[in-house]
Amino acid sequence: MSPARLPNSYFEQMYAASADPWEFTTRWYEKRKRALTLAALPRPRYRSAFEPGCGIGVLTVELAGRCDRILATDIVDDALRRAADRLAGAAATVDLRRWGLGDDWPAEHFDLIVLSEVCYYLEAPALRTVVDELLDHLESDGVVLCVHWRHPVPEYPLTGDEVHAILGGHRGLSTVGSYRDDDFLLEVFTPARSPRHSVAQQEGLV
Ligand SMILES: C[S@@+](CC[C@H](N)C(=O)[O-])C[C@H]1O[C@@H](n2cnc3c(N)ncnc32)[C@H](O)[C@@H]1O
Repeated sequence: MSPARLPNSYFEQMYAASADPWEFTTRWYEKRKRALTLAALPRPRYRSAFEPGCGIGVLTVELAGRCDRILATDIVDDALRRAADRLAGAAATVDLRRWGLGDDWPAEHFDLIVLSEVCYYLEAPALRTVVDELLDHLESDGVVLCVHWRHPVPEYPLTGDEVHAILGGHRGLSTVGSYRDDDFLLEVFTPARSPRHSVAQQEGLV
């Protein structure tokens, strides 16, 4: 366990108390947020996606319809077991692994990294290190999608707004799209080192 992030036991207790601790499968709030998340992805398909903190795999299933392969990880075995059940027969090749932000990164590269409701469990310096490492594992045409709840949660080291300030303020990332309401912030980043191509440019419209 790293002291720079909320302990695994915090999440293990949540999964011991509920099969779906954040009510991803039942709340309209979550369903709508997932729809906006999927809609914000600038390309129709991705070769290799990374989703740290996949939980019970509700978002992973929807990402599977847009990706050839997904590496989906969590720090709680119960969550990974439930994700495996949900992802049986998924449209993509999904590799489920126990791994957490703050651990050593896998020796792989991705053209999509999805950080959904997972970055505020880290302290600010640890999150900055994660962003440095993320850039080393992001393809030059890669996309980072980041989405976080904005209301304060006393136990979390960071708020959603603080998370997005760290990502948006990192010189290695360029913001190419965003959505904000009272409840959550959603942003799409590409590597600052790469040329920017809007969706209309990709389609030859401009
Ligand atoms: C709110 S859920 C988000 C699930 C999924 N990303 C989504 O948005 O539908 C947060 C998940 O992150 C996991 N988690 C907590 N700390 C983590 C870390 N440092 N690295 C990876 N996953 C973590 C928890 O176990 C939990 O399953």
